[in-house]
Amino acid sequence: MSDIRWRHKDLLDTAELSASEITCLLDMAERFDEINARPVKKVPTLRGKGVVLFFAEPSTRTRTSFEVAGKRLSADTYALATSGSSITKGESLRDTALTLQAMAPNIIVIRHSVSGAAAFLAERLSCSVVNAGDGRHAHPTQALLDAFTLRRHWKGDMRGKRLLIVGDIAHSRVARSNVFLWQKFGVGVRVFGPRTLLPPGIRDWPVEVHDNLDEALAGVDAVMALRLQLERQQAGLLPDLSEYARHFCIGMRHLEKAAPDAVVLHPGPINRGLEIASDLADSGRSRILDQVAAGVAVRMAVLFTLGMRGTSMQEAFEEPGQGAAGA
Ligand code: CP
Repeated sequence: MSDIRWRHKDLLDTAELSASEITCLLDMAERFDEINARPVKKVPTLRGKGVVLFFAEPSTRTRTSFEVAGKRLSADTYALATSGSSITKGESLRDTALTLQAMAPNIIVIRHSVSGAAAFLAERLSCSVVNAGDGRHAHPTQALLDAFTLRRHWKGDMRGKRLLIVGDIAHSRVARSNVFLWQKFGVGVRVFGPRTLLPPGIRDWPVEVHDNLDEALAGVDAVMALRLQLERQQAGLLPDLSEYARHFCIGMRHLEKAAPDAVVLHPGPINRGLEIASDLADSGRSRILDQVAAGVAVRMAVLFTLGMRGTSMQEAFEEPGQGAAGA
């Protein structure tokens, strides 16, 4: 495992991480993945540390995997959802966060519909803040688990690989965090989607923008289908959903144009028949459930690095009885 002394208080986006920091997190996640395969999956590493899960938007995968990750590291996890919290009585994000901080957690994991909400908290709180998805801005742990999944599939050899991202790029925090991660590893990212669902500044992103799906697919090593973020879209961006599916739903036949061992990813939740065909989602070419499994190991690595901040990662991992490997 590459050694590094973690310098970040928070994890807000992949853009702020260097390639070696991302590699360190992915290497560490590999170690946690081994622990996750053991009969006893719990290690004492973050015993006595508190992790608050503050999800002000729906989530299945991210929220559950952060909770599993925290518990497997022996942290105390506390969940706060918008419904059932005093946000519904008009309490501001800042006041909610200060209230949570007064209970002295070590880490707050936040999902929020407003882009910049995680950074807003990070500037005001002394504890670590992890962005679990803020509006259309960023979803760094999703991009990290996507990288974990593809790095494995590519047997660690990422440079020169090509990834095609298809669908609603404009509203996708997953797309944005992936683009800025893959740029650091020499992976070429292509995007294809309806013109109305491309962000205004897409020409400034380090991507190839395609307007023909067959050309976009030619020779790619992986395809990532995105969820249509209908909850973030203004009316009138799409003619209708069946028209969308006809042009942008990825099926088995599309992979024939990609590299022979190309695989398909989707961050979930998937809308079968709209973004990805059911037979492809359930096939051996799909890595969707591998992504979910990777989410636990990657989020363990993220909580671990922030919880053990200032310690040499090698030492933190190896210290007998304390580090994950010594457990
Ligand atoms: N990929 C993702 O963020 O899924 P959830 O919304 O279920 O957390």
